[in-house]
Amino acid sequence: MGDFRAAYPGYAATARLDELRAVEYRYLDEGGHVYLDYTGAGLPARSQLRAHASRMLGGVYGNPHSENPTSSASTALVEQARAAVLRYFNASPDEYAVIFTPNATGACRLVGESYPFGRRSRLVLTADNHNSVHGLREYAARCGARVAYAKVNGSDLRVSDRALLDAAGHGHGSHPGLLAYPAQSNFSGVRHPLSWVARAQAAGYDVLLDAAAFVPTSQLDLSVVRPEFVALSWYKMFGFPTGVGCLLARRDALGRLRRPWFSGGTIRAVSVGERWHQLLGDEAAFEDGTVNFLSIPDVAVGLDWISEIGIDLIGQRVAMLTAWLLECLGRLRHSSGAPMVRVYGPRNGESRGGTVALNFLDPEGSIIDERAVSRDASAAGISLRTGCFCNPGAGEAAFGLRRRDLTRARRFLLRPGAEDAPIDDYLILAGMATGGAVRVSLGIVSSVEDVEAFLDFAERTYRDRYPDLTGLTARHGCLLPGGRPPGPPGARPMAAAIVSAARCPRGTPQYLRLRGRWLPPSYRPRGHVAG
Ligand SMILES: Cc1ncc(COP(=O)(O)O)c(C=O)c1O
Repeated sequence: MGDFRAAYPGYAATARLDELRAVEYRYLDEGGHVYLDYTGAGLPARSQLRAHASRMLGGVYGNPHSENPTSSASTALVEQARAAVLRYFNASPDEYAVIFTPNATGACRLVGESYPFGRRSRLVLTADNHNSVHGLREYAARCGARVAYAKVNGSDLRVSDRALLDAAGHGHGSHPGLLAYPAQSNFSGVRHPLSWVARAQAAGYDVLLDAAAFVPTSQLDLSVVRPEFVALSWYKMFGFPTGVGCLLARRDALGRLRRPWFSGGTIRAVSVGERWHQLLGDEAAFEDGTVNFLSIPDVAVGLDWISEIGIDLIGQRVAMLTAWLLECLGRLRHSSGAPMVRVYGPRNGESRGGTVALNFLDPEGSIIDERAVSRDASAAGISLRTGCFCNPGAGEAAFGLRRRDLTRARRFLLRPGAEDAPIDDYLILAGMATGGAVRVSLGIVSSVEDVEAFLDFAERTYRDRYPDLTGLTARHGCLLPGGRPPGPPGARPMAAAIVSAARCPRGTPQYLRLRGRWLPPSYRPRGHVAG
């Protein structure tokens, strides 16, 4: 730790965050938590929770779709929250509208289902995207639009300007379409250039900027960077409330969207006899049903809280801790000198946020099953994330998966009768040595002690050791380990059997051992192994 303070003297200037942690986030240390999943969810200050409780206890709030006193009280607070969002992002109310959604995913869906895709337009996506953005391709394809991906570079998980230009097709048509990318990767922490927004707009594209992983540690100034659409979830920024996100949309772009339906709260006039409806203008046409009026006011509380601390202070501390974490991970070695960790994405702190994806390696250089890491970390009171984090493009690039293996894996899973086929077998066929990576992410009250705790855990648990893989349950799906493995009663998915018997020989991570036999990557599992 002394080394850290010497290497990063600027850390001392962020001491206010330690003071806040001791009071406002004291549930962390009281509960013995080492919280390293800020990209999963931010954490709330106690004063945010108190503000919610006192508002609820001190007032009466009715459905905002009326004009009675309790309804007006709700409306006033929701409108105050809208104004607070615009102020925070330095957005003019004449230029931007704030649409409250259930989460960032809901914001993306609003754009996808309403965007005027057509045969002559395209949707450009970076391969590094959350599934909630990848899903837009279904709307685009349904309208006959071309979907083009900008590839991720396998070594640092960045997307080059060239790759983006190639995908955008160098000025395609008079209204090229939509570019959607994350300001910060939820897999690798890579910050993709905000300068792409203006460049894409100059080529005629609209831009959907997924800011969900970016805004918890960085300022987004919408008077400087002016994407047509911005998607985010508030709980990622300040922990509370959950169930509320927002789409910030430029009013001119909003006017070009075509909603596929109408619902309560969105219409100016509607008739059953005439089968006719007219939507309200602006944001009201996009907020389906009753908004979360008891929680939306907490967005203003959260924004005030972050503003009072200063997002730059949070960002500076996270940047120092991330750089230190990366340096220390690079130094973790088995006593043979072999590295203990493989990091995916940039190995230093440049142009990146506080999200680090990695795998631990055993003394022979094989990847340690991420489920074992999840189990071991949980036992040590450490909250981190494992898997592919809903970001298959970054995962495929990080693990160097080959197209032909992905095709084979897809065919395996989509073949008739394979509805219950274990995801583990799919992963093997795709060429994955395990089910994904380990993600450590830092945020508002992360401290050097958190980083040290994680590094200590890593050394204690994996240095010169082979992990205990017994008792790991089959992967349940893309997201979760655990639960009953699908398949007939008594059967075990093949990979569960593999896990209990296997260790890949060094340098051949795609070879797996099943009941004493080494399986080549071309091995095609058939159904389940009898239990
Ligand atoms: C970059 C990014 N985009 C979108 C999402 C989706 O957010 P939500 O699940 O809150 O809708 C996430 C969630 O992890 C994310 O990290």
